Amino acid sequence: ESAEGKNEAKSYKEMISTFPRVQRWSCYEGFWYFPMFLEGLMSAQDHFIPQSTDIFITSCPKTGTTWLKALTFAICTRSRLSGSSASSLLTKVPHDCVPLLEYDFAQNPMKRDRAVPLVSTHVPYSSLPKSVVSSCCKLIYICRDAKDAFVSLWHFIADLQRSKNIEPLSLEEAFELFCSGISSYGPYWDHVLGYWRASLEFPEKILFLTYEEMKKDTASHVKKLAEFMGCSFTLEEEEEGEVQKIISLCSFEKLSNLEVNKNGKHRADTSFAMKNSVFFRKGEIGDWANNLTAEMGARLDYIMEQKLKGSGLKL
Ligand code: A3P
Repeated sequence: ESAEGKNEAKSYKEMISTFPRVQRWSCYEGFWYFPMFLEGLMSAQDHFIPQSTDIFITSCPKTGTTWLKALTFAICTRSRLSGSSASSLLTKVPHDCVPLLEYDFAQNPMKRDRAVPLVSTHVPYSSLPKSVVSSCCKLIYICRDAKDAFVSLWHFIADLQRSKNIEPLSLEEAFELFCSGISSYGPYWDHVLGYWRASLEFPEKILFLTYEEMKKDTASHVKKLAEFMGCSFTLEEEEEGEVQKIISLCSFEKLSNLEVNKNGKHRADTSFAMKNSVFFRKGEIGDWANNLTAEMGARLDYIMEQKLKGSGLKL
């Protein structure tokens, strides 16, 4: 890292230390972040320049990002791979196929496979780098029932913390914070609403999806994704079952059972290494009911209903 880079990182750290903080989250532009990602975001806001062909995979954590990364990667690399079964998805976790704006570029802005026009981010719409918002780049957003997103997030963070011998927050404590808007990249409802409103304003630029509708009819969404990304399936491809092949390759069953995702590590050579298996838990709709009481569920439903009221979105 250059001396300039080090000074800059130090000054982001100093700025972050002055931001409101609750537990390990710091608040910036109305959203809550773990400091490491916030530093990356601030750096991206200052320096990131997209390629004009970039497509951004956007989401709040634990809403289906891994699946969406796999699908979009498989869709846009399919012609390069035709006739070969060697998709990178078989040997790398989807997060190592599609870089994360606020982590991978902050660490090394030049490190990317320029042939793959995909960048992912959890940054809320209102905090995206101006270079992204003012570009002609397309964005795909995925979100999910808030209760399932919360439960998935709690398990994910608790697993990671236990693996580092950090005592995780209890489910109840984390739930209270989530309901008051404090969670990674939360408030959850503001994250969803930011992209929802932007997708209404710029429908040709932003595709808004939900995990539930993707599960219900994956094939039509895979076709929709390809069309949106400017690489629709040809009739010939459809007849050859290309859509179904991509769905199978990216399915929870297939990916979670691959050797790399069972035993491999994401960002293996960094202090932020984690087991790939943490990205694959159950992959179901409605698992919240096995973790939260009916009262907790009703409370979060009520909050979401109130926050989304009048937006035209039901989640
Ligand atoms: P659960 O914790 O409810 O099982 P993200 O990818 O944004 O981190 O979201 C993680 C959620 O997506 C987890 O949900 C995970 O199991 C699920 N998931 C991961 N890969 C998937 C896939 N290929 N298909 C469907 N769901 C998947």
